Amino acid sequence: MNKKGFIFDLDGVIVDTAKYHFLAWKKLANSIGVDFTETQNEQLKGVSRVKSLEKILAWGNKTVSEAEFKELMDSKNTDYLNYIEQMNASEILPDVPKVLNYLIENKQGVALGSASKNATVILEKVDLLSKFDQIVDGNHVVKGKPNPEVFLKGAEALGIEPKHCIVFEDASAGIEAAKAAQMIAIGIGDKTVLGDADYVFNDFTEISTDFIKELINK
Ligand code: BG6
Ligand code: MG
Repeated sequence: MNKKGFIFDLDGVIVDTAKYHFLAWKKLANSIGVDFTETQNEQLKGVSRVKSLEKILAWGNKTVSEAEFKELMDSKNTDYLNYIEQMNASEILPDVPKVLNYLIENKQGVALGSASKNATVILEKVDLLSKFDQIVDGNHVVKGKPNPEVFLKGAEALGIEPKHCIVFEDASAGIEAAKAAQMIAIGIGDKTVLGDADYVFNDFTEISTDFIKELINK
């Protein structure tokens, strides 16, 4: 069988952490008198922590000093980590282990490509860390999605050419990044948002092992 590289985004693909990001950002935004809605939270999917706070401040027409900015970031992350602390394997999204195990059984390259700086701790909490050959996350990149850096680094770490890599992503910025990296982009979520992907599925229950096999043999 061929060896391909399969690169997974974390938040919204493997686990639904967007709800925890929402609660933590909302508390923070409200604490400085800024409103924060679920619709705005959607726009932060795949966006780094720094860029997310910049957007929230811009929406609220707020400017803060560099020191305050850092305090706000730290405070949001402390709250977020309190939610993460409670996570366990029951929060893995349906059929994610089925796909990961199939890839491992068939000796494919498996990497994480996430904007999060908390990726390793989340994978440990849900007991999936050992499934990944390589982890590339927010600690390893300078440019956030839609820049392809995170996925190109993932391919490099796996030792597999980008054109032989397949990315699973729930954010449109992530699909853009995967396409910019010349990879096959598989959207997980809403077709209206992820229309630029090569394939879109609502979730992994719609992805058969036959389909994965086709991708491997492409
Ligand atoms: C992405 C999330 O995976 O990681 C974003 O979709 C989040 O919402 C980003 O802002 C950074 O995450 P963290 O854990 O480093 O704050
Ligand atoms: Mg995501």
